[in-house]
Order: sequence, then structure tokens, then C-alpha cells
Amino acid sequence: MSIAVFASGSGSNFQTLVERSRMEDWPEPVSLLICDKPGAKVLERAEKLGVPSASFAPKEYPGKADYERDVLHLLRLHRIKWIVLAGYMRLIGPVLLEAYAGRIVNIHPSLLPAFPGKDAIRQAYEYPVKVSGVTVHFVDEGMDTGPIIAQVPVAITEDDTLESFAEKIHQAEHSLYPDVVYQLITGKIRPPVPLSASEK
Ligand code: GAR
Repeated sequence: MSIAVFASGSGSNFQTLVERSRMEDWPEPVSLLICDKPGAKVLERAEKLGVPSASFAPKEYPGKADYERDVLHLLRLHRIKWIVLAGYMRLIGPVLLEAYAGRIVNIHPSLLPAFPGKDAIRQAYEYPVKVSGVTVHFVDEGMDTGPIIAQVPVAITEDDTLESFAEKIHQAEHSLYPDVVYQLITGKIRPPVPLSASEK
């Protein structure tokens, strides 16, 4: 059993997860990348890292359920146990939520419930708040909602530009996310819903 990362963009979190999982010899490795944006940079990273990837174009499906059924088929072929969202800019629908109840996590670049949705780093910088941060949470049907697992604060200082603040956020993400995913796969963090016997 292993981990699939879902990503839509650059893939820096994906790369960090793969590197940490290899460095620390995780019992469940990152063995698949699912990308919903053909041509995204994350696909290049997967190739360089030697992680199998699949690129989907959800717009070509009649609806979300059809798209997710195809994704689910692939996840089952690869014996995927955990779905780790890393910059996957799409809501998860009932097909995947039911199949992976309690086994989908997401990272978001703010202290949720503040600044959900797109462009959270800019939203916090322009508000302006003094402290924002990073949140990892279990995924439900909402946008950046679901039970919070871990949060770290990141200060916005007087001399921060949007770029320097974004860099601090990404550093915090790259440190926090692999820690949380490791704790999840080793049972130190318990999913918020019971797993069925075949999934334990
Ligand atoms: C990350 O900052 C992640 O927290 C954010 O997308 C970025 C992806 O960066 N996710 C969200 O905003 C989810 N609502 P990456 O592609 O370099 O990992």
C-alpha cells in the first residue's frame, strides 16, 4: 500500500514528499502522481524523480463523478492507501471521498479558517495580517475545510515583500507536510472516521 499525491501546479511539495519518503525509507512510499493540469511543472518533477504519473483533463469528462471514477480505477491498480493533496486546485467529490474516507489530507498556505481558497498567501499579505501560516487538514467536501491536523504560524514582518513572505510559507510547508504524512502512515495520527478492516 502506498501514497498518491494529487497536484495541479509547480509541485514543490510533491518533490519534498518524495525526497523525504526516500531519505527516511517510509513504510508506504509516494508511488503515484495524479495531475489535473496537462503540462504542469509537477509532471516534469515526477519524471525526474522516477515517480509514475497520470495526467487528466477533467473538462473532457461529462462530470466530476466520471473523472473521479477513472482516477479511482488507477488508484486501485496502484494499491494506493492515502491521497495527499499538494496544490491540487479542485474540490474532491463524493466518489473519492467515499472510497478514501479519512484517508485524504490537504495542505493550505494560511491558518485556516482564515483565507481559504486560491491565492491565500497574497490574501494574507494584502489584508494585511501580522501572522499567517500553514495548515494540514483532513479533506471533506468543502473548500479547505475538514478537521485540522496541524498548523504552524509564519510572521509577516515590516520588511517582507510578497515574495519573501511566500518563500517563508513554502519553507514551512516543506518542513510540516512530510512530518504530518509520516505520522499518518505510521498510525501516530488517527483518521477522524473509522477505516474498514481491509483498509487498516
Ligand atoms: C502550496 O502553497 C499549497 O499550500 C497550495 O498550493 C501551493 C502548491 O505549491 N494549496 C492551496 O492553496 C490549496 N487550497 P507547490 O505546487 O509548489 O507544491
